[in-house]
Amino acid sequence: MALRIIDHGSKQYQQMVKLRDDILRRPLGLTFSPDELEEEKENLLIGAFEDDNILGCCMLVEENPAVARLRQMAVLNDLQGKGVGRALMQFAENLARDHGYRTLNMHARKNAVGFYEKMGYRVTGSEFLELSIAHYVMKKEL
Ligand SMILES: CC(C)(COP(=O)(O)OP(=O)(O)OC[C@H]1O[C@@H](n2cnc3c(N)ncnc32)[C@H](O)[C@@H]1OP(=O)(O)O)[C@@H](O)C(=O)NCCC(=O)NCCS
Repeated sequence: MALRIIDHGSKQYQQMVKLRDDILRRPLGLTFSPDELEEEKENLLIGAFEDDNILGCCMLVEENPAVARLRQMAVLNDLQGKGVGRALMQFAENLARDHGYRTLNMHARKNAVGFYEKMGYRVTGSEFLELSIAHYVMKKEL
């Protein structure tokens, strides 16, 4: 497995959007708008690949020069629980440090809180709804 930064608009980016659509959006009856995808030009896009096939992804969005938000973490259904998510987190944290961020946070889906806890993140507030499902803000000092 290789961890890579993905260029916006590339073939790898198209794979990333499809993966996110399959795992994160379509199960909720939603998809991505062109405007939403256009805004991702500003973000650090990350993928885990085997040969040319994407296995998982996530992205870093700057909140301020010291704080980044992790978004769109998703691993192929058949490969969940095999360490791809952990590898993505480690790569994302190293990349965040390289860019000078000292804190990483996320809006974690309730079903993924246990995963982020294993990666050292802590819930910092109460449950809230986003895209109609329960989330928690979680964060970690890098
Ligand atoms: C959540 C997700 C990204 C985790 O990636 P993954 O590749 O399955 O996770 P890993 O195999 O690297 O797991 C690392 C550790 O976390 C644990 N873990 C994984 N998913 C978990 C979950 N949902 N709840 C609790 N623990 C979890 C694993 O058992 C493993 O523990 P171990 O080190 O003690 O063996 C992935 O399961 C996924 O894409 N889920 C569906 C989409 C989703 O919910 N994304 C998050 C949106 S906020």
